[in-house]
Formats: sequence, structure tokens, C-alpha cells
Amino acid sequence: MKIAIGSDHGGYELKTYLTSYFDKHEIDYDDFGTHSTDSVDYPDYGKKVAEAVLAKPYDFGIVICGTGIGISIAANKVKGIRAALVYNQETARLAKQHNHANVIALGGRTTTQEMAVKIVEAFMESTYEPRHQKRLDKINKIEEEYDV
Ligand code: RB5
Repeated sequence: MKIAIGSDHGGYELKTYLTSYFDKHEIDYDDFGTHSTDSVDYPDYGKKVAEAVLAKPYDFGIVICGTGIGISIAANKVKGIRAALVYNQETARLAKQHNHANVIALGGRTTTQEMAVKIVEAFMESTYEPRHQKRLDKINKIEEEYDV
């Protein structure tokens, strides 16, 4: 299991908490920044993580901004990325089971550290249910249609 993680300044603290948790639990990851609370632009980090996830060897990505909204929008502009803004264990599980999300987005200012860990654990423990493939195929078709 290897995770690609990145955030803007609004997600920096939560990212730091999660990477410390990964270190403690020997979960492999690469940190794509940002590396301080200095103001940066979330699309840059959404794009970096999204591209890393597509290039492998990552199992999934985590993107964090203040709300998780902007950075999930940015990550979803990368063709092949299914970034899900999740806010509890249930949405994390369903993002994997139904949507086969390859990136989860968190809000550094809206998600507690404890909940973020529960979300990541729930996502890692869940499995995609292929009965939903028809809908994912339709998403892929939209991508083809608009070439995004
Ligand atoms: C930055 O202040 C903030 O706009 C950003 O972190 C995020 O919440 C955007 O969606």
C-alpha cells in the first residue's frame, strides 16, 4: 500500500498529522507538498497528486485544502481521476465501493484529525464493487466526449 498525499496551506496541518500517523503505522507514502503554511494555490497540488496517482505506483491519493472542495475540483480535471470529497467513514467506504475513487479529498478546516484517520482507514479497508462499473464507464464516456 502506497499513498500520494498533497495539500495547500489550508490542508497543511492535517496533512502533517496524517503523514505522522503513516510514519507511526509504517504506511508508505510520498508527500507532494506543500511544506509550510505559506499561501499557495490548491490546483497545483491537486494536479501533482492526481498525476502521481495515474503514473503509479500509488494505490490512491489524498488531497487536502481548507474545505477539500477546490482541490477535489482540480484533481478531477485530470483525466482518469475520480476524486471524492469525503467527510466521514460512510462516505469514505462508499467512495471506494461505488465510485472506485482513486483520490480522496479532505477539508483541513472542516475535518478533525481523528475523523481524517478514520476516513483513511475506512477507505483503505473497502473494496470496489464491480456491479457499479456501468456508471463508471459512463463517466469515462463523458471524459472522452469533452476530452478533459
Ligand atoms: C484557501 O484559502 C482556500 O480557499 C482553499 O484551501 C480551499 O478551501 C479551496 O477550496
